[in-house]
Amino acid sequence: MKQDISRKKSAELFEKAKSYFPGGVNSPVRAFKSVYGTPLFIERGDKARIWDADGNEFIDYCCSWGPLILGHNHDGVREAVIQQLDKGLSFGAPTRLENELAELILTNNRYIEKIRFVSSGTEAVMSAIRLARGYTKKDKIVKFEGCYHGHSDSLLVKAGSGLITFGETSSAGVPKAFADETIVIALNDKQALEEVFSSFPDQIAAVIIEGIPANNGLLIQDKDYIHFLRQITQEHGALLIFDEVITGFRLGFEGAARYYNTQPDIITYGKIIGGGMPVGAYGASRELMAHISPEGGVYQAGTLSGNPIAMSAGIAALRTLAEPDFYIKQEEKTQGFVTALRAYIDRKNYAVQILTVGSIFWLTFAQQKNIKRADEIDPLSMEKYKIMHRSLLNQGIYFGPSGYEVGFISSAHTQEDLSQTITAIKTALDTVFT
Ligand SMILES: Cc1ncc(COP(=O)(O)O)c(C=O)c1O
Repeated sequence: MKQDISRKKSAELFEKAKSYFPGGVNSPVRAFKSVYGTPLFIERGDKARIWDADGNEFIDYCCSWGPLILGHNHDGVREAVIQQLDKGLSFGAPTRLENELAELILTNNRYIEKIRFVSSGTEAVMSAIRLARGYTKKDKIVKFEGCYHGHSDSLLVKAGSGLITFGETSSAGVPKAFADETIVIALNDKQALEEVFSSFPDQIAAVIIEGIPANNGLLIQDKDYIHFLRQITQEHGALLIFDEVITGFRLGFEGAARYYNTQPDIITYGKIIGGGMPVGAYGASRELMAHISPEGGVYQAGTLSGNPIAMSAGIAALRTLAEPDFYIKQEEKTQGFVTALRAYIDRKNYAVQILTVGSIFWLTFAQQKNIKRADEIDPLSMEKYKIMHRSLLNQGIYFGPSGYEVGFISSAHTQEDLSQTITAIKTALDTVFT
């Protein structure tokens, strides 16, 4: 392989960061543990591009892990934030901006009637789980292997051995008693769902699923499976929570709920909803949301909830997303990109799959075409991803630093950016397979 790009300054910053932060980072995956080299320290971003501390330029497909559907430094979002800066950063009192963002969301989404803003996806999901437990007066929740819902205690749980077992904590510090309330089953498996409800009758408060699971590869579920999930939860008096922290506003204002044509009981949001600022939210019917304090008995609060700067960024972003054809164009662009890559992969007969939905894509090294479950991903294939990732960085393309991460295409990615990326990926794949 030709000389790697210089990471001298990033490496120096990383050394310093290690003395300040555990592992040198403030969120684990940033540490580049699953790919070659030290993390790149980013100086700035503009449209589809980012620049690191060494002055290297990259076309960015991580897009801050999804929020930046409009790319970096979007004019409308930047202007909205600057205008609000003059008026104040935070008041801890209601502002008109919260109403505006809520109205923008609720008038464009048939699946929720009321919403509550929080400050992260983790918080949104944690609150949704509490609402489900408070409403149903049941304690157990069911989640799926291969779905990530943030780092709250109830959800840092992985499958135990056996089809239906209590979960095991996936982090030190999560009490066993919490893990015992979370049951983890495989995705896209109707039998597992039937067994879970027959094994724990009248105990399950909610089943939570990522709208379209996109944290452990892109595991697009069969529509009839999701309809079955809706039906079985309803039959057993359990709520269905769609965690749309990634898919919300990525697949349109109505996200995965519309994609599957399914009405969940609670939907959680994050990422795009804040236009790049920290915002999360959860929404449901008026009746369900009446259980949240101060109206109801389920407590949930936040010093910076509905923060005016974050609301302004969210409003500006969502107004742009609400423009006619925004999502159609995004999808067309992504389809063009994926089709060109698939043609090359087919011609070369490479064992590579690209799964895609909306403007999300996932490139994975596998023979199997429609991967839908976490256990269908071969961990050994991640070695190939590492080689590809390194080659891409050397060619000025920034992908997420793990083969389990999906890529995002923003409205700022031009045809030129995409063509340049296609050429780079072809070269990277040739490197992997030689
Ligand atoms: C589906 C999903 N839910 C919840 C979260 C947690 O969100 P946050 O990182 O904002 O706490 C994430 C984060 O990646 C996510 O993808």
